[in-house]
Amino acid sequence: MKKLLASLAVAASFAMATNAAVAQTYPDRTITVVVPFAAGGPTDTVTRLVAEAMSKDLGQQIVVENVGGAGGTLGAGRVASADPDGYTLLLHHIGMATSATLYRKLAYDTLGAFEYVGLVTEVPMTIVARKDLEPTDLKGLVEYAKANKDTVTVANAGIGAASHLCGMLFMSAIQTPLVTVPYKGTGPAMTDLLGGQVDIMCDQTTNTAKQITGGTIKAYAVTTPQRLEALPDLPTTDEAGLPGMQVGIWHGIYAPKGTPAEVTERLSKSLQVALKDSNVVARFAELGTAPSSEADATPAALKAKLESEIARWKPIIEAAGQYAD
Ligand code: MLT
Repeated sequence: MKKLLASLAVAASFAMATNAAVAQTYPDRTITVVVPFAAGGPTDTVTRLVAEAMSKDLGQQIVVENVGGAGGTLGAGRVASADPDGYTLLLHHIGMATSATLYRKLAYDTLGAFEYVGLVTEVPMTIVARKDLEPTDLKGLVEYAKANKDTVTVANAGIGAASHLCGMLFMSAIQTPLVTVPYKGTGPAMTDLLGGQVDIMCDQTTNTAKQITGGTIKAYAVTTPQRLEALPDLPTTDEAGLPGMQVGIWHGIYAPKGTPAEVTERLSKSLQVALKDSNVVARFAELGTAPSSEADATPAALKAKLESEIARWKPIIEAAGQYAD
């Protein structure tokens, strides 16, 4: 027994020494951040802005890898099974929490497969439509959707996406199921909305703000308690007559389970620097959002957020009765 305890003590001290040595040199090569949606969408936009600033702070290149499909769960699964060495990360959003209920056969254990780096930003959602859709306000859109429920098409980025969640809240609020069209991200979905191939979408301002101010799509409401400085003429869902549709899309950075705490702490410090970067702050403001606070850009804050959001959305999703499998 004594020998066993002695060998365990040696192993533990060796592991601590290894982790400490890792932390001294980390990062010493390119880091990959997986975006679990197609390029050009809101998650991709947020990630590239933050990765550029973190790369400057860390002194290493950060490449973004888009792994779309299944509402973000394919990309999350890719990182869950990656080496826990700090060189493969995931930037994902509220979908990490909703997918835990929506997918009853996930390839990973949401609360057991990741280490936490920190929260990044919380992005408002907007109810938008192709430019020539007839309704001119949200009340009119609701009436139009109910009257054309078998033909109106709603774009989203797959079950588990933020656009799916907001679309589900919209259909629950108007008590009318609509035809949904899934994409690998709302980047390609926006292309079809602009081309008139799909009718409406609920998407994040990081993908819609530019199109709304440019007049290339129609906007009906924003899902925040107050109007946005970036979109002052856009009413809130409460104002526009759809209370209970407030939803903010929080984003976090994760690493595979087993990634040394020294590494996730170094990444959290770098994330905190990046969220104060003048370009990140300015671009986020233009896109209708803002960086998370220093206190929120920490492993503990992200862990607490994910746990509370899984608990919050579980009954809502179960009431809607929409599952992926
Ligand atoms: C979503 O959840 O709708 C995603 O944010 C879409 C995307 O980032 O492409």
